[in-house]
Amino acid sequence: MILVTGGAGYIGSHAVLELLQAGHEVLVLDNLCNSSKVALDRVEHLAGRTVQFVKGDVRNRSLLNALFASYPIEAVLHFAGLKAVGESVREPLRYYETNVSGSIALCQAMAEAGIFKLVFSSSATVYGDSPRMPITENCPTGIPTNPYGQSKLMAENVLRGLAESDPRWSIALLRYFNPIGAHESGLIGEDPNGIPNNLLPYMLQVAIGRRKHLSVYGADYPTPDGTGVRDYIHVVDLAKGHLKALERLSLVHGVSTWNLGTGRGYSVRQMVTAFEEVIGRPLPHIYKARRPGDIAQCWSDTTKARDELGWEAKKGLLTMLTDAWRWQSRNPQGYGVDKAATATKKADTATETALAS
Ligand code: NAD
Ligand code: UFG
Repeated sequence: MILVTGGAGYIGSHAVLELLQAGHEVLVLDNLCNSSKVALDRVEHLAGRTVQFVKGDVRNRSLLNALFASYPIEAVLHFAGLKAVGESVREPLRYYETNVSGSIALCQAMAEAGIFKLVFSSSATVYGDSPRMPITENCPTGIPTNPYGQSKLMAENVLRGLAESDPRWSIALLRYFNPIGAHESGLIGEDPNGIPNNLLPYMLQVAIGRRKHLSVYGADYPTPDGTGVRDYIHVVDLAKGHLKALERLSLVHGVSTWNLGTGRGYSVRQMVTAFEEVIGRPLPHIYKARRPGDIAQCWSDTTKARDELGWEAKKGLLTMLTDAWRWQSRNPQGYGVDKAATATKKADTATETALAS
């Protein structure tokens, strides 16, 4: 059995689905502070299998001890964490406590229970403003410009020290680039609280009519069209990367670091144009000054993951945007969908029918 912390969240729910489809038993621990149990109900429906779910906090040591004592857990995928950059500037302690102390509590409980396989959700943010593109795992980590990024780098360092102290540990640090998209069914996807911080969720909410226009932050970057460039990766490809990392941990010890990206960068302008093609109409957008803390460009070198994990991203930008749009248009309010208001829409009727069956 695999314990998935934060398994009700955006990336975690897609990983749980992949685990179930690959035949694993799954236990999810999530306090639902940024997610809905509905996501897991839908995962169960898609997989045709059940997930064990415990609502609780990853910082709760006695709960963790009880879970490890009660379930035959062999390894942990650790997604639970807080991820809003702006919020982390306002509430740094909450971010360090959840992302760093939460990871420490988890590792303490794992060690006590004799479980030493861990896959950790890290981020390309640990590279900071890298002067080298594409970014390899050997590029030095930078100085993250916000407590969220610092908490990820601190957690990485904690895990590195831990693995050096005890050879029984096998730890994967997966550095995600920019996860977007949704499962092709349109049943699970990203459901941000409040005003979205990230590009694609914001574009989706403009397209669905929840926001007036997208603000493009900066058209004066030293990039081909002046807007920021990122390596967007389909969340299903990303989820599959976790299964490959898990397999690999049975063969290697210590800490292994892998970039999970596509190796290709797209600018904000390119994203807007591609998304307009998917929705078949213009997306209202205006140009604004750069967002503080943003870097000009960031994309991955994927060689190490390909060679060592036998994994590479398969889904292109059009699929990412089409799948994201299917999710958003079928679930205009995310998991808090008002069923009565949307029941007349063909797409939503299909969703509800699928769920009810
Ligand atoms: P998410 O917010 O959708 O998922 C995180 C989940 O963790 C949520 O279900 C939340 O309820 C849960 N959680 C938070 N604090 C918890 C706690 N103390 N105890 C138990 N559960 C808790 O975010 P996501 O996009 O799925 O991100 C998953 C992980 O990947 C996070 O660690 C995030 O920092 C990391 N990451 C995300 C991105 C991205 O762009 N989405 C990029 C790089 C890294
Ligand atoms: N952008 C806009 N308008 C918006 C939102 C974003 O123009 O409303 C631009 C940004 O300036 C940037 C690009 O779109 O050029 C991507 O921005 P995101 O906020 O979607 O993503 P970031 O690369 O800034 O950061 C994300 C996560 C971080 C994570 C990082 C690397 O938010 O937590 O990817 O994985 F660390």
